[in-house]
Parts: sequence; C-alpha cells; structure tokens
Amino acid sequence: MKGEIIINEEVVPNVHRLVLSAPVIAKRAKPGQFVIIIPDEVGERIPFTLSDWSPEDGTITIFYQEAGVSTMKLTRMKPGNVIHTLVGPLGRPSKIEKFGTVLLGGGCYGLGAIYPLAKAFKEAGNRVIGLFEARTTYIVYNEEKLREVVDELYIVTADGSRGLRGHVPEALPYILEKEGKIDYAHFIGCTYMMMVSSRGTKEHNIPTIVAMNTLMVDGTGMCGICRVEVDGNTKFACVDGPDFDGHKVNWDMVFARKHAYVAEENMAYQFYRTQMDGAVNKCAKNRKEGA
Ligand SMILES: Cc1cc2nc3c(=O)[nH]c(=O)nc-3n(C[C@H](O)[C@H](O)[C@H](O)COP(=O)(O)OP(=O)(O)OC[C@H]3O[C@@H](n4cnc5c(N)ncnc54)[C@H](O)[C@@H]3O)c2cc1C
Ligand code: FES
Repeated sequence: MKGEIIINEEVVPNVHRLVLSAPVIAKRAKPGQFVIIIPDEVGERIPFTLSDWSPEDGTITIFYQEAGVSTMKLTRMKPGNVIHTLVGPLGRPSKIEKFGTVLLGGGCYGLGAIYPLAKAFKEAGNRVIGLFEARTTYIVYNEEKLREVVDELYIVTADGSRGLRGHVPEALPYILEKEGKIDYAHFIGCTYMMMVSSRGTKEHNIPTIVAMNTLMVDGTGMCGICRVEVDGNTKFACVDGPDFDGHKVNWDMVFARKHAYVAEENMAYQFYRTQMDGAVNKCAKNRKEGA
C-alpha cells in the first residue's frame, strides 16, 4: 500500500515525527509492532516502530532518525508527498500482562516508540515507570505525551544536563531505591543502549525484553538478514521478534552483523548527500536566474 505524508517535522535535532495516512495499519496495529517503508521507487526497505496510531483518523505515527540514504530521502519529503510502499503491521506484538511494576526505557527513536507500550502496560494494571535516556537535555522529546500514561518518569542524560547523569545502569540503583522492586523491564531504541541496559537489569535480576533493530530486508522471515542468536538458538527478528530476552541475546553477534556494511553505507550516504544537495543548489540557482 501507499501512504500520504500528513506531517514530517524535526522535533529535536535528528529526530523526525512522521504522520502517515494508513487506515488499514492503524486499525490492526498493536504495541511493539513495526512497518516497512520504501520512500521512493528506487529506495531501500526501512523498518520503523509504530509509535502511535489512530484508527479513527486512519493515521500512524513514527519517530525516525536520519541514519543513511533512505532516511535522508525521507527527511526531504513534504506533507502531501506519497510514500512509495508501506507494509505492516509487522512483527509479533509485545507481551502485555500485569507484571506489577514495569520499567520502560527508551533512547533515540525509543523516546517516541515507548508510548504505546507504556499506555498498554498501564491499561493492563501495572505501575509504569518511564525512563528516557539521552545524550543531553535538548534532544529529549515526547515527554508530555509519555507523562500522560506513566506513573513516574526518570530522565538520564550522558552529560548530566538533565535528571540523572550517565546511562541506564547508573540510574538503576537510584530508581530501585525510590520505586522498590521492579518486576519487568522493556527497552527500545539504539542497540548499544539496549545492550548496556540489559546488562544493568541482569545485575538486579529484572526480567528484560529488548526490541531488536537488526538489519532487515524482506521482513517476512525469508532473507535471513535479521538473524539473531537468543539463548543459543537462531531467531529472525522480523517474524520471531522484534522482542527478545535481553539477557539471552548474543550481543557480539548483533553488533558484528549490524556493522557488516558500514563502509558501503557511509559511501552511499556521502554520494547521495552530495548529489541531492547539488540538485537543491542547482534549483535555487535556476530560480534566482529565472530559468
Ligand atoms: C524492527 C525495527 C524497528 C525500527 N524502528 C525504528 C524507528 O522507529 N525509528 C528509527 O529511526 N529507526 C528504527 N529502526 C532502524 C532503521 O530501520 C534504520 O535506521 C534504517 O533502516 C536506516 O536506513 P538508511 O538507508 O537510512 O541507512 P543505511 O545506510 O542503510 O544504514 C545506516 C545505519 O543504520 C543501520 N541500519 C541500516 N538498515 C537497518 C535496518 N533495516 N534495521 C536496523 N538498522 C539498520 C546500519 O547498521 C547503519 O549503521 C528500526 C529497525 C528495526 C529492525
Ligand atoms: S528481514 Fe528477512 S528474514 Fe527477517
């Protein structure tokens, strides 16, 4: 299917909120699921977590970061433009049950993607503790919206400019002292954050789920690129996940596989960026010269 862009705006540096018209997906979406987008007819498939949806308005919301060529193309699309291909909802929905006290941690795009999980865990009767991890204060976003559905929200910044200083593992002892026992944790966002957070919760024996963001191509379990090893078993993040036990994921393998094409990705990014900026400058020059 295709999806018309309703909103595509940068909310903080390099985090964009994309609202798309997608009535079919909005009707069927569940927390933890994702979509695959192909921005234009020559674009790659890019998976994005559903950060919100409205069956009434027929819209879905995604928060995304410019990471390479396809996401760069997306940042340049405007309301009214149409996404070439949009597939979803994909992946298994997150396990939402009454666990007791649930800690939900988000970093980078996870500050947005955490919202439907928080809402669902709250509706299931849990005490929900939100935890935002960011490099610095000015890249914190979605705070007001999350506060509507969590009982408490902690913010941890690497430079200490807001809230607690450090990363999730450093914040955990303080949160545990304040909140008491945490029965379940779920992390979403950058891979490194999910890995160190899982190590942190392991020390405190907190069962932990991570929303795995491996490379993906088809998203249907056929190509094998999203392979992850969990507890010694091979899993495919697109159909068996994206949620896995963070204490059982083979993180070394995750990073090795994720970085396999970094040189090519960087080269393609530089090439397209120069081309696209060149085209933009040429248009501006032509306009100025009345061509
Ligand atoms: C289930 C899932 C949900 C995701 N949700 C979000 C989200 O809500 N918001 C968001 O900003 N990002 C999300 N990602 C990551 C996002 O898909 C990638 O950043 C994007 O595909 C990069 O594409 P690109 O062509 O711009 O960059 P590329 O040049 O292809 O890659 C740039 C960098 O992004 C990483 N990357 C590339 N392709 C993927 C991929 N398919 N999956 C994961 N990492 C990749 C590479 O390791 C590389 O470091 C998600 C990934 C998965 C698997
Ligand atoms: S993306 Fe191809 S098997 Fe998962």
